Amino acid sequence: MLVNAARIAADFRAIAAFTQTPGNGRSCPTFSPEWGQACGYVRDQLAACGCQTRIDAAGNLHVRPRGLAWDSPAWLSGSHLDSVPNGGDYDGVAGVVVPLEILRAAHDAGRGDLPLELIIFADEEGTTFGTGMLGSLAWVGKMSAADLGRYRNAAGETYLAAGAAHGVCPNDLPHEQINPAHYRGLIEVHIEQGPRMWNRGERVAVVTAIAGRRQWRLRLTGQANHAGSTPMTERRDCVAGGAEIVVALEKLAGELSSAAVITVGQFQPSPGAVNVIAGAVELSIDFRDPDNGLLAVGETKIAELISQIATHRGLTAELTPSEALPAVALDGAICQRLQAAAATAGIPNIPTTISGALHDAAIVAPHLPTAMLFVASRDGISHNPAEYSRIEDFALAAEILAALVQELVTLTE
Ligand code: GLV
Ligand code: MN
Ligand code: MN
Repeated sequence: MLVNAARIAADFRAIAAFTQTPGNGRSCPTFSPEWGQACGYVRDQLAACGCQTRIDAAGNLHVRPRGLAWDSPAWLSGSHLDSVPNGGDYDGVAGVVVPLEILRAAHDAGRGDLPLELIIFADEEGTTFGTGMLGSLAWVGKMSAADLGRYRNAAGETYLAAGAAHGVCPNDLPHEQINPAHYRGLIEVHIEQGPRMWNRGERVAVVTAIAGRRQWRLRLTGQANHAGSTPMTERRDCVAGGAEIVVALEKLAGELSSAAVITVGQFQPSPGAVNVIAGAVELSIDFRDPDNGLLAVGETKIAELISQIATHRGLTAELTPSEALPAVALDGAICQRLQAAAATAGIPNIPTTISGALHDAAIVAPHLPTAMLFVASRDGISHNPAEYSRIEDFALAAEILAALVQELVTLTE
């Protein structure tokens, strides 16, 4: 079975073209026409290789070789095709095109029964419906139809309404959930999205854990007032208060742990006029750490810090949690298999690493033995049109995954 790097490169080019912002990165919201075209491309490639497709009630696309029954235990591999606004061409796409190439290579080699199922998780980034990984959460039964009916996209459509044309079917959700008996395990291939592997000269790495994430919306309320006639001592300025909070959060991350990261990615003052002191500001907070104990400590400290700064400045603070996902350890036995498969593919001492970014793998991990394989990101740039990883490194990831799926690995205890 021969993996073909040129075909992987062609897949990235084809999928990159399905964007709402040509020339300015990949903008591909879940259930948008561009997202549908990207999924269609993958489906067509695989239909031409004798594969069968089904879409589960949450909108996730599953593809298997026709010679492999849906209930026969297979390896599961896949990722997502939705993107952040103006994102890169590799985030998520990498984890789809690698198993796609393996299924194509298997077809070329006359293996119509390779025990590999490709999955495209319907929604990962959280930028379409305001919270992430809805497709995998619904598939594992952690999101009900009622929950999915509460999340809306920029056009005001719920996940259920926007997804109806793409196979989302609320009535079927309870009986179309993951059946662990049909799988040997999940391996998600992804780009690292950070600088560590690239800086160390590592092409691929086995991921042993995924950091947890907590997110909040914060609304500060003060008093809108005249920018010219209000003395500096008489202001309840929400932009100044918000800015103090942003800088204090940045400092807090370093005090919590060397792995903790805190990001304010949205900051919306109102009324937002040049000559008006802001009477309110809404901002987002995203906090991650690989240690669940530290996530709890950090949560308390974040709330205390906001309350102190708001009180000192005469502002009201409303902090509303929007997500809380624990840190997840990945499956040791599958990580070992991946290490052995890497040795078979010519990388005898594949490094291990931890994922700072979240992935559908973290949602599936409590239900199936799960691991991840990372490919180095140039200069650690991601969620940015400049995102780049080497095609030959994706081909190597495909060889490793193919060796594992074909059981070519020798495990030494
Ligand atoms: C997913 O892209 C994340 O924000 O971790
Ligand atoms: Mn991703
Ligand atoms: Mn992403």
